[in-house]
Amino acid sequence: MKLLDSMSSAELIESYRTAGQGHVFAFFDQLSECEQQQLLSEAAEIDLHEIATLKKELIDGDGAAAMDYSDLEPSPFEARPEKGGDADAWAEAERLGEQALRAGRVAAFTVAGGQGTRLGFDGPKGTFPITPVRRATLFQVFAEKITAAAKRYGTSIPWLIMTSHQNHEATVSFFADNAHFGLEETQVRFFRQGRMPAVNREGRIMLSSRSSIAMSPDGHGGSLRALDRSGALAQLEAEGIDTISYFQVDNPLVRCIDPAFIGWHLKSKSEMSSKMVPKAYAEEKVGHFCIQGDRAVVVEYSDLPAAMQAETDSATGALRFIAGSIAIHVLDRNFVKRLAGAGPEAALPFHLAHKKIPTVDGAGDSVSPTEPNGIKFEMFVFDALPFAQNPIVIETLRENDFSPVKNATGIDSADSCRADLLRQYTRWANVNGAAVATDETGSPSFDYEVCPSYGYDENSFTASWANTSPPPLISAGTLLG
Ligand code: UD1
Repeated sequence: MKLLDSMSSAELIESYRTAGQGHVFAFFDQLSECEQQQLLSEAAEIDLHEIATLKKELIDGDGAAAMDYSDLEPSPFEARPEKGGDADAWAEAERLGEQALRAGRVAAFTVAGGQGTRLGFDGPKGTFPITPVRRATLFQVFAEKITAAAKRYGTSIPWLIMTSHQNHEATVSFFADNAHFGLEETQVRFFRQGRMPAVNREGRIMLSSRSSIAMSPDGHGGSLRALDRSGALAQLEAEGIDTISYFQVDNPLVRCIDPAFIGWHLKSKSEMSSKMVPKAYAEEKVGHFCIQGDRAVVVEYSDLPAAMQAETDSATGALRFIAGSIAIHVLDRNFVKRLAGAGPEAALPFHLAHKKIPTVDGAGDSVSPTEPNGIKFEMFVFDALPFAQNPIVIETLRENDFSPVKNATGIDSADSCRADLLRQYTRWANVNGAAVATDETGSPSFDYEVCPSYGYDENSFTASWANTSPPPLISAGTLLG
């Protein structure tokens, strides 16, 4: 709307004509006044100069062909102590992280603006019921983990949640309906990410109906701008919070608040830190932490040539590009501020994706494409890495941090994630002598559940277990919490 304030409707329409995008208003005269206002306000959100540049550079210039990976090297990372890393350095990191938590310097941040198309779930993905017994939703699991961590460190941990235009209202109402899962209402802060229009192969902005532009979220990279624009950063600054623990809405195993990770970030004076897991197999669909020149980069699974993904180390036989990104980061508040306001030299690049975009034809009639007919633009948060000072990558164990819910069935589905949750509870229980019988993959033969209030990682579970006398008996349907 900001452009509309300073520009009249006629000027706005004229600017579209001048930019070769006049077709956006092709049906304008046939619209009701309300529809006209909707179209104008959507049009005012769009930076026409940015669209023209993206067309020139990414569509006409064939961005993919410009990628040169000849100088790409695998990224170094801090190995876990049990995998040969420096145990003292990890202990020191954990101590520093705990100190920062006790001092109230940390906020949690979830990106939840995605459309969750692959999962086929109707509603914001965070409202998906995931746990084995209670069927607690993804949002509830994070809320409980954050609450438990705040209690443990005697602090409050604000939780920032980025939504999109499509799911904002539904997300906010879901939290209101559930009394914010016991969190203070002022501690859960929602803000919307920006959007970008879809264009066709000629770079023409697409309409989704006669009165509406085909807009979609601008990618999780849009979170940096949105954190700033929404006032969330300013509020964190006023509260003395300088460290932001970033994770995706699709991963209930994530340790939302991980003192060792926060400590590594702080002791390395890193502006952006990341967790890696060793890739399970060459084609696994995760980004790869790499070094290009003197910069840290993540190269997506869809971009890194298959031959490079399959390269192995001649000495160990392990994959050479082994460091898989699980999209868990710690961000320095000032770094986010700097990038959010940066000019083109440090702006996150847009990536394009060819998609099926429902649209209208020249007569204004609806068209439902069966093949990709348009292009969406998205920014990726990991493209901030090359701009960060002292970025650091630390190893984590997959079973402690990563089991995303992305697909309706099979790999990375609700079923595979529930099985991983059960394996995790069982590891924690059996370390403490519970003797839950498992198969060879560590799975118990029945469902039960450990609520984050009882244990959200091995240490907190062990502390609760020690305080439960006699030790709980675990059987089908047991709920520890
Ligand atoms: C992503 C990463 C990949 C990583 C993998 C780990 C990208 C391009 N790739 O893959 O490197 O290995 O996760 O699970 O991100 N989101 C928004 N707004 C948007 C788009 C997405 O908030 O406009 C959020 C989603 O709600 C979700 C997260 O970002 O929380 C990931 O989005 P998704 O598109 O599912 O990423 P993947 O392709 O699965």
